[in-house]
Amino acid sequence: MIPVTPVDHPDVTDWLEPLFAFTHADAQQLIADFHTEMHHGLSGKNSSLKMLPTFIGRPSGKETGRFLAMDLGGTNLRVIAVKLDGKGQAQVGDTSRFVIPVEIMQGAGDRLFDFLARCVQTFFSLHDFDPQRRYDLAFTFSFPVDQRAIASGSLIEWTKGFTASDVVGKDVVALLAAALHDRGVKNVRVCALANDTTGALMARAYGDANCDMGVILGTGSNACYPETRLDRLSGMSAVAVDEMIINMEWGNFDKLTPTEFDRMLDRDSPNPGRQWLEKMVSGMYLGELVRLVIVAMIDRGSLLTPGDQRFFTNPYSLTSAHLAQPDAMAGFGLEHIKPTDAQAIARIAELVFNRAARIAGTAIAAVVTWMDSELSRSHTIAVDGSLFEKYPGFRRQMLAIIDELYPERADHIQLKLTSDGSGTGAAIIAAVAAGQSHR
Ligand code: GLC
Repeated sequence: MIPVTPVDHPDVTDWLEPLFAFTHADAQQLIADFHTEMHHGLSGKNSSLKMLPTFIGRPSGKETGRFLAMDLGGTNLRVIAVKLDGKGQAQVGDTSRFVIPVEIMQGAGDRLFDFLARCVQTFFSLHDFDPQRRYDLAFTFSFPVDQRAIASGSLIEWTKGFTASDVVGKDVVALLAAALHDRGVKNVRVCALANDTTGALMARAYGDANCDMGVILGTGSNACYPETRLDRLSGMSAVAVDEMIINMEWGNFDKLTPTEFDRMLDRDSPNPGRQWLEKMVSGMYLGELVRLVIVAMIDRGSLLTPGDQRFFTNPYSLTSAHLAQPDAMAGFGLEHIKPTDAQAIARIAELVFNRAARIAGTAIAAVVTWMDSELSRSHTIAVDGSLFEKYPGFRRQMLAIIDELYPERADHIQLKLTSDGSGTGAAIIAAVAAGQSHR
């Protein structure tokens, strides 16, 4: 995201700037609505925030052991070996990455799980693992899951473009275990189920006692935090813990006001009516929103030429990665456009990304003030994902809205890039789980 100077284009200034503005008043409204929805979600009432219990609390930093982690949640799959030293440090060892073909993401569920099992086999053969030794594997499955125990949970619904059949409602740990068994991989036990947000929180909290939130700003967007007022968790009081990390699934928050472009994107998405916040905030959708605005402006005759329409006909062809480049349109195949058009497009991208960052920053503020209404202590927020990592302007805008909201206490919210959540974090979850089962 390249900061641009103000653009002298009537459609941009009079129509799009107000349309994509996320004001101080909008932010305060979001915080109030988040608190209501969080309360409803925790108490089992109807809510767009699912507030899913994860059956785990934060680590002590003393957890030890060697684990495998499998990370499924975007277009890549990773298998990782991790060693925890018990002193707040983790060592990530052998790692294999696999691209998940679209026909696997969107095909039959048993093929998806067979693909996962084959990736574990390939990992073993690539890195010379001992087939006789037993390994514990933590499964980072970054979708909404109705968890029943640390190593059991059923998929509520797919997000982020996944649609594999016959998985919704099934226990994904059992599906992975069965697929490994069918492939003859008998020495791996799937011992924990994690979300990428909990992975990020655990990875940071292992060495930082102030860390109390995990946030993902990547292909999708979501957050988790430790809930200490367990009386708020309907039916959870029977679990003997003093805190439980809650996977909020904030991507589904639906109290923001969508623009006509948000509605168009939603209508043609694989999950219409769902994941409203995610569709306004996360990397999978921001390029598409910009494409829809560009198409509308070409139609109105106020941008590029009618002949340029053909560059913008394919949904999702314009990506966040394109827009991160200094000359986004050249990278997209449109060379030699007028400087005023290039400026207008850069400004449109900036409006869409800034709105996303301000919503994300405000949502973080909402969760932090839920835990600590006066912002009286320091909170480290473990943040992972390409938007946060690769677009410096994104972090700046998140911090700017936090500062606008809490000018006196904004430095009590520290955003820390935490890239190793799905490896290290998942391993820590496995280790905490092992500790829990011995108690
Ligand atoms: C989607 C998933 C959620 C995940 C997030 C980030 O919102 O539903 O579980 O944490 O993407 O990957």
